[in-house]
Amino acid sequence: MRVISIISLKGGVAKTTTSVNMAYILCKQGFRVLLIDNDKQGNASKTFGLYNPEDENTVARIMLERGLDVREIINKTPYSDSEAGTLDIITANMELLEANMRTIVDTGRQQQTRFKKALTAVSDQYDFCIIDNAPDINMSIINALVVSDDLIIPIMIDQYSFDGLEILIEQIEQTKEDFNPALTFRGCLVTQYRKADVQEQGTEVLDSGYPIFESRIRRTENKVNESTFAGKPVVEYSVRCGASQDYKKFVREYLEAIK
Ligand SMILES: Nc1ncnc2c1ncn2[C@@H]1O[C@H](COP(=O)(O)OP(=O)(O)OP(=O)(O)O)[C@@H](O)[C@H]1O
Ligand SMILES: [Mg+2]
Repeated sequence: MRVISIISLKGGVAKTTTSVNMAYILCKQGFRVLLIDNDKQGNASKTFGLYNPEDENTVARIMLERGLDVREIINKTPYSDSEAGTLDIITANMELLEANMRTIVDTGRQQQTRFKKALTAVSDQYDFCIIDNAPDINMSIINALVVSDDLIIPIMIDQYSFDGLEILIEQIEQTKEDFNPALTFRGCLVTQYRKADVQEQGTEVLDSGYPIFESRIRRTENKVNESTFAGKPVVEYSVRCGASQDYKKFVREYLEAIK
């Protein structure tokens, strides 16, 4: 199982949209995919109609329970039993907030390796695990970095694009050094892209300092928002729209890069 973290300290840059659509595309290509919602907002869970504020079987249990059988908290999505691959999910809700706070004071066992330990049990069951992270660096996000093979940072080109990028990259370097030397920063993914000079210039600046995917995800005003209300990945909701085409291209580029 190859683990991919979609991560950024910035909110609203399309982490969830990228995670959900990447998971869906890989599933449709015949891969077995586990999506982990690692954000107390539960937006990835909501996409599949699986958000429940009362649910006790969420990602929070990974942080809290020693010896958890992670299979107990894996849910099916409408795509789990599709003809091609599989798309299962571990959901999140506000419980994750308390779980993170409790983990910080629980120094009795290692705090950073709880995802890693829990996911070992299903590593033969899936080809890919995609983790949709919150716009933060908290203990469950450090756990995601420790268990990941690949990192992808979605970026929206605007005045504040680079805010937090250095801090995040520093954190990645530290995690690499302390826990996970195999962690690879695959690149920044430009999302919500519009044809405009400022977007071109911003992308060039980014390209000069950081690894970046050639594929860019176009801003597709209505379809992406409509798809969230429809409870579907945009790639399923509107096959032909710009963002759907771009996400497919991006996944091809990613698969090529890991060959
Ligand atoms: N290519 C796109 N075109 C148009 N709108 C988009 C596109 N990608 C994402 N959006 C919209 O932008 C908003 C933020 O996207 P998303 O929730 O994926 O970001 P996020 O980084 O996960 O946010 P958060 O930090 O809150 O978790 C959503 O309303 C989403 O529908
Ligand atoms: Mg999100």
